[in-house]
Amino acid sequence: MHKEIIGDATLYLGDCLEILPSLPGGVADLILTDPPYGVEFVGRAGVHGMLVNDHKGFDVTPYIAEALRCLRRHRHVYVFGPLDISKLKLCSPAELIWDKEMFGLGNLAIPWGCQHEKITFAIYETGKAAREGGSGILAARLRRGSVLRCLRPNSQRASVHPTEKPVDILAQMIESSSMLGETVLDPFMGSGSTVVAALAERRKAIGVEIDPKYFDIACRRIEQAQKQLKLAL
Ligand SMILES: C[S@@+](CC[C@H](N)C(=O)[O-])C[C@H]1O[C@@H](n2cnc3c(N)ncnc32)[C@H](O)[C@@H]1O
Repeated sequence: MHKEIIGDATLYLGDCLEILPSLPGGVADLILTDPPYGVEFVGRAGVHGMLVNDHKGFDVTPYIAEALRCLRRHRHVYVFGPLDISKLKLCSPAELIWDKEMFGLGNLAIPWGCQHEKITFAIYETGKAAREGGSGILAARLRRGSVLRCLRPNSQRASVHPTEKPVDILAQMIESSSMLGETVLDPFMGSGSTVVAALAERRKAIGVEIDPKYFDIACRRIEQAQKQLKLAL
Protein backbone atom coordinates (compact mmCIF):
# COMPACT_ATOMS: atom_id res chain seq x y z
CA MET A 1 0.00 0.00 0.00
CA HIS A 2 1.32 3.43 -0.98
CA LYS A 3 0.05 6.69 0.58
CA GLU A 4 0.38 10.28 -0.73
CA ILE A 5 -0.69 13.39 1.13
CA ILE A 6 -1.35 16.41 -1.10
CA GLY A 7 -2.64 19.38 0.90
CA ASP A 8 -5.97 18.32 2.44
CA ALA A 9 -6.12 15.12 0.39
CA THR A 10 -4.91 11.71 1.59
CA LEU A 11 -4.60 9.25 -1.27
CA TYR A 12 -4.00 5.50 -1.14
CA LEU A 13 -2.86 3.22 -3.96
CA GLY A 14 -4.34 -0.23 -3.42
CA ASP A 15 -7.50 -2.31 -2.97
CA CYS A 16 -10.02 -0.35 -0.89
CA LEU A 17 -11.24 -3.61 0.64
CA GLU A 18 -7.78 -3.92 2.25
CA ILE A 19 -7.16 -0.21 2.92
CA LEU A 20 -10.52 0.86 4.41
CA PRO A 21 -10.21 -1.48 7.46
CA SER A 22 -6.98 0.34 8.38
CA LEU A 23 -8.75 3.73 8.60
CA PRO A 24 -10.30 4.86 11.90
CA GLY A 25 -14.07 4.36 12.27
CA GLY A 26 -16.04 7.55 11.62
CA VAL A 27 -13.13 9.30 9.87
CA ALA A 28 -15.39 10.49 7.02
CA ASP A 29 -18.39 12.84 6.99
CA LEU A 30 -19.59 11.92 3.49
CA ILE A 31 -19.11 9.03 1.06
CA LEU A 32 -19.28 10.00 -2.61
CA THR A 33 -18.14 7.28 -4.95
CA ASP A 34 -18.33 5.89 -8.47
CA PRO A 35 -17.48 2.16 -8.40
CA PRO A 36 -17.17 -0.12 -11.45
CA TYR A 37 -20.71 -0.94 -12.64
CA GLY A 38 -19.86 -4.55 -13.60
CA VAL A 39 -20.52 -3.93 -17.31
CA GLU A 40 -17.08 -4.62 -18.86
CA PHE A 41 -16.98 -1.05 -20.21
CA VAL A 42 -13.98 -0.33 -22.43
CA GLY A 43 -14.79 3.22 -23.55
CA ARG A 44 -14.02 4.77 -26.88
CA ALA A 45 -12.41 2.27 -29.25
CA GLY A 46 -11.00 0.46 -26.22
CA VAL A 47 -8.26 3.11 -25.72
CA HIS A 48 -8.21 2.68 -21.95
CA GLY A 49 -8.88 -1.07 -21.57
CA MET A 50 -11.34 -2.55 -19.07
CA LEU A 51 -11.46 -1.14 -15.53
CA VAL A 52 -10.31 -3.34 -12.64
CA ASN A 53 -13.33 -5.17 -11.15
CA ASP A 54 -15.68 -4.18 -13.99
CA HIS A 55 -16.35 -7.85 -14.81
CA LYS A 56 -19.95 -9.04 -15.01
CA GLY A 57 -21.33 -10.02 -11.60
CA PHE A 58 -19.10 -7.59 -9.65
CA ASP A 59 -20.87 -6.95 -6.34
CA VAL A 60 -20.08 -3.60 -4.74
CA THR A 61 -22.00 -4.39 -1.50
CA PRO A 62 -19.03 -5.57 0.65
CA TYR A 63 -16.98 -2.56 -0.47
CA ILE A 64 -19.70 -0.06 0.48
CA ALA A 65 -20.22 -1.90 3.80
CA GLU A 66 -16.52 -1.46 4.59
CA ALA A 67 -16.64 2.23 3.56
CA LEU A 68 -19.67 2.78 5.84
CA ARG A 69 -17.58 1.70 8.83
CA CYS A 70 -15.44 4.79 8.14
CA LEU A 71 -18.48 7.11 8.00
CA ARG A 72 -20.06 9.02 10.88
CA ARG A 73 -23.56 7.84 11.77
CA HIS A 74 -26.48 9.70 10.15
CA ARG A 75 -24.28 11.03 7.37
CA HIS A 76 -24.90 10.84 3.62
CA VAL A 77 -23.80 8.41 0.92
CA TYR A 78 -23.91 8.83 -2.88
CA VAL A 79 -23.08 5.89 -5.16
CA PHE A 80 -23.08 6.15 -8.96
CA GLY A 81 -24.48 3.14 -10.84
CA PRO A 82 -26.47 0.14 -9.64
CA LEU A 83 -26.73 -0.34 -5.86
CA ASP A 84 -28.93 -2.68 -3.80
CA ILE A 85 -29.13 -1.09 -0.34
CA SER A 86 -31.12 -3.94 1.25
CA LYS A 87 -28.01 -5.53 2.83
CA LEU A 88 -26.45 -2.21 3.88
CA LYS A 89 -27.01 -0.02 6.96
CA LEU A 90 -28.66 2.65 4.84
CA CYS A 91 -32.07 4.30 4.93
CA SER A 92 -34.08 7.09 3.27
CA PRO A 93 -32.87 6.26 -0.26
CA ALA A 94 -33.48 8.65 -3.16
CA GLU A 95 -32.69 8.17 -6.82
CA LEU A 96 -30.81 11.01 -8.48
CA ILE A 97 -30.28 11.21 -12.22
CA TRP A 98 -27.24 12.64 -13.95
CA ASP A 99 -28.51 13.96 -17.32
CA LYS A 100 -25.47 13.98 -19.63
CA GLU A 101 -27.33 16.24 -22.09
CA MET A 102 -26.33 14.02 -25.03
CA PHE A 103 -26.52 10.30 -25.71
CA GLY A 104 -23.83 7.80 -26.65
CA LEU A 105 -24.00 5.05 -29.28
CA GLY A 106 -25.09 2.16 -27.03
CA ASN A 107 -27.40 -0.52 -28.52
CA LEU A 108 -28.10 0.63 -32.10
CA ALA A 109 -30.92 -1.95 -32.42
CA ILE A 110 -33.21 0.06 -30.14
CA PRO A 111 -34.60 3.57 -30.71
CA TRP A 112 -33.32 5.00 -27.40
CA GLY A 113 -29.78 6.13 -26.64
CA CYS A 114 -28.82 6.25 -22.98
CA GLN A 115 -28.33 9.84 -21.84
CA HIS A 116 -28.34 9.43 -18.08
CA GLU A 117 -26.78 7.63 -15.14
CA LYS A 118 -28.37 6.74 -11.82
CA ILE A 119 -26.92 7.90 -8.50
CA THR A 120 -28.24 6.42 -5.26
CA PHE A 121 -28.45 8.74 -2.27
CA ALA A 122 -28.99 7.26 1.22
CA ILE A 123 -28.34 7.96 4.90
CA TYR A 124 -26.09 5.80 7.11
CA GLU A 125 -28.01 4.51 10.10
CA THR A 126 -26.57 1.74 12.28
CA GLY A 127 -29.78 1.07 14.29
CA LYS A 128 -32.17 -1.45 12.65
CA ALA A 129 -35.30 0.13 14.18
CA ALA A 130 -34.27 3.65 13.11
CA ARG A 131 -33.47 2.34 9.61
CA GLU A 132 -36.85 0.69 9.27
CA GLY A 133 -38.55 3.84 10.57
CA GLY A 134 -36.85 5.81 7.80
CA SER A 135 -34.85 7.91 10.27
CA GLY A 136 -31.72 9.69 9.28
CA ILE A 137 -32.03 12.87 11.29
CA LEU A 138 -29.48 15.16 9.54
CA ALA A 139 -31.78 17.87 8.22
CA ALA A 140 -31.37 18.83 4.58
CA ARG A 141 -29.47 22.13 4.48
CA LEU A 142 -30.05 22.65 0.79
CA ARG A 143 -32.86 21.14 -1.28
CA ARG A 144 -32.43 20.59 -5.00
CA GLY A 145 -34.26 18.72 -7.74
CA SER A 146 -33.19 15.11 -8.30
CA VAL A 147 -32.00 15.65 -11.92
CA LEU A 148 -28.47 17.01 -12.22
CA ARG A 149 -27.60 18.29 -15.70
CA CYS A 150 -24.03 18.44 -16.98
CA LEU A 151 -22.22 17.41 -20.15
CA ARG A 152 -20.06 14.34 -19.60
CA PRO A 153 -16.32 15.30 -19.41
CA ASN A 154 -15.15 13.09 -22.27
CA SER A 155 -17.76 14.24 -24.76
CA GLN A 156 -15.71 16.99 -26.35
CA ARG A 157 -12.11 16.39 -25.30
CA ALA A 158 -9.79 13.49 -24.58
CA SER A 159 -10.65 12.09 -21.19
CA VAL A 160 -8.10 11.15 -18.54
CA HIS A 161 -10.32 8.28 -17.40
CA PRO A 162 -12.94 6.36 -19.43
CA THR A 163 -15.67 6.99 -16.84
CA GLU A 164 -14.57 10.40 -15.53
CA LYS A 165 -17.38 12.28 -13.75
CA PRO A 166 -17.95 16.07 -13.96
CA VAL A 167 -16.47 17.97 -11.02
CA ASP A 168 -19.49 20.36 -11.07
CA ILE A 169 -21.98 17.58 -10.29
CA LEU A 170 -19.79 16.10 -7.57
CA ALA A 171 -19.42 19.58 -6.03
CA GLN A 172 -23.21 19.94 -5.83
CA MET A 173 -23.54 16.70 -3.83
CA ILE A 174 -20.64 17.68 -1.55
CA GLU A 175 -22.20 21.08 -0.92
CA SER A 176 -25.60 19.54 -0.12
CA SER A 177 -24.30 16.91 2.29
CA SER A 178 -21.27 18.26 4.15
CA MET A 179 -19.88 21.35 5.83
CA LEU A 180 -16.68 23.34 5.26
CA GLY A 181 -13.62 21.47 6.57
CA GLU A 182 -15.37 18.07 6.73
CA THR A 183 -13.97 14.92 5.09
CA VAL A 184 -15.22 13.30 1.88
CA LEU A 185 -14.30 9.64 1.20
CA ASP A 186 -14.11 8.08 -2.30
CA PRO A 187 -12.93 4.44 -2.19
CA PHE A 188 -13.04 4.16 -6.03
CA MET A 189 -11.26 7.40 -6.87
CA GLY A 190 -10.29 6.80 -10.54
CA SER A 191 -8.71 10.02 -11.85
CA GLY A 192 -9.57 11.87 -8.62
CA SER A 193 -12.65 13.90 -9.69
CA THR A 194 -14.33 13.59 -6.26
CA VAL A 195 -11.15 14.70 -4.49
CA VAL A 196 -10.77 17.72 -6.82
CA ALA A 197 -14.42 18.67 -6.15
CA ALA A 198 -13.96 18.26 -2.39
CA LEU A 199 -10.88 20.52 -2.32
CA ALA A 200 -12.66 23.14 -4.45
CA GLU A 201 -15.49 23.07 -1.89
CA ARG A 202 -12.93 23.54 0.93
CA ARG A 203 -13.38 20.03 2.30
CA LYS A 204 -10.74 17.42 3.15
CA ALA A 205 -10.67 14.23 1.09
CA ILE A 206 -9.60 10.59 1.28
CA GLY A 207 -9.30 8.69 -2.00
CA VAL A 208 -8.37 5.09 -2.84
CA GLU A 209 -7.48 3.75 -6.30
CA ILE A 210 -6.28 0.26 -7.21
CA ASP A 211 -4.85 0.98 -10.69
CA PRO A 212 -1.38 2.65 -10.53
CA LYS A 213 -2.00 4.41 -13.87
CA TYR A 214 -5.14 6.18 -12.60
CA PHE A 215 -3.58 6.74 -9.15
CA ASP A 216 -0.73 8.71 -10.80
CA ILE A 217 -3.16 10.68 -12.96
CA ALA A 218 -5.22 11.50 -9.82
CA CYS A 219 -2.10 12.65 -7.90
CA ARG A 220 -1.02 15.01 -10.71
CA ARG A 221 -4.54 16.35 -11.16
CA ILE A 222 -4.99 16.96 -7.42
CA GLU A 223 -1.59 18.70 -7.16
CA GLN A 224 -2.67 20.99 -9.99
CA ALA A 225 -6.05 21.69 -8.34
CA GLN A 226 -4.29 22.43 -5.04
CA LYS A 227 -1.97 24.97 -6.77
CA GLN A 228 -4.93 26.72 -8.43
CA LEU A 229 -6.76 26.92 -5.09
CA LYS A 230 -3.71 28.53 -3.46
CA LEU A 231 -3.55 31.11 -6.29
CA ALA A 232 -7.26 31.87 -5.87
CA LEU A 233 -6.88 32.62 -2.12
C1 LIG B 1 -15.88 4.16 -12.39
S1 LIG B 1 -14.22 4.42 -12.05
C2 LIG B 1 -14.16 5.95 -11.16
C3 LIG B 1 -13.94 7.14 -12.05
C4 LIG B 1 -13.88 8.45 -11.28
N1 LIG B 1 -15.18 8.82 -10.77
C5 LIG B 1 -13.32 9.59 -12.12
O1 LIG B 1 -14.03 10.61 -12.32
O2 LIG B 1 -12.20 9.47 -12.61
C6 LIG B 1 -13.91 3.24 -10.80
C7 LIG B 1 -12.46 3.13 -10.38
O3 LIG B 1 -12.37 2.20 -9.31
C8 LIG B 1 -11.12 1.52 -9.41
N2 LIG B 1 -11.22 0.28 -8.61
C9 LIG B 1 -11.77 -0.91 -8.95
N3 LIG B 1 -11.70 -1.78 -7.93
C10 LIG B 1 -11.10 -1.12 -6.90
C11 LIG B 1 -10.75 -1.48 -5.57
N4 LIG B 1 -11.00 -2.72 -5.09
N5 LIG B 1 -10.15 -0.57 -4.78
C12 LIG B 1 -9.89 0.69 -5.25
N6 LIG B 1 -10.18 1.08 -6.52
C13 LIG B 1 -10.79 0.19 -7.33
C14 LIG B 1 -10.93 1.31 -10.90
O4 LIG B 1 -9.55 1.15 -11.23
C15 LIG B 1 -11.53 2.61 -11.47
O5 LIG B 1 -10.52 3.58 -11.74
